[in-house]
Amino acid sequence: MPVSTTEELKITDGLMEFVQEWKNKPGNLIMILHRTQQEYGFVPRKIAMDLAKVLDVPLAKIYGVITFYHFFKLEKPGKNQISVCMGTACYLKGAGDLIQEIENVIGIGVNQTTDDQEFSLESVRCVGCCGLAPVLTVNGEVYGKLKKDQIAEIVAKHRGA
Ligand code: FES
Repeated sequence: MPVSTTEELKITDGLMEFVQEWKNKPGNLIMILHRTQQEYGFVPRKIAMDLAKVLDVPLAKIYGVITFYHFFKLEKPGKNQISVCMGTACYLKGAGDLIQEIENVIGIGVNQTTDDQEFSLESVRCVGCCGLAPVLTVNGEVYGKLKKDQIAEIVAKHRGA
């Protein structure tokens, strides 16, 4: 969704429809935040503020939920989302080294985004292909049986692609 600054954001019609549908149902806040993240790729502060008004809940409650569940992102993710699996199999096969190498190559740690907005890095739980451990995905594309010297090549492939 092409949006230049988060300050200009408004609740989209689709999201508002969802909010109205869920407004009075139990567990609605999590559902609505999920839908929000689906819409924007993260939960923009402006939208969180608007939701607080529409739902008539304190903003602090919304941020309480966002920060409790690591799934929610507070910052706009980069164009390419690198997700390193830190499930047991991947962890044991050196996923930590992959994260370290990514940090060396693109200069960001977990839950950070590069200044040029090209890459974000996150660690995730088992992505379901333990036989390929250690695994990372870039925008959902799976790279398995990785060695850290392959990281630079993977980054180069996605940069500006
Ligand atoms: S532990 Fe990484 S894919 Fe299962």
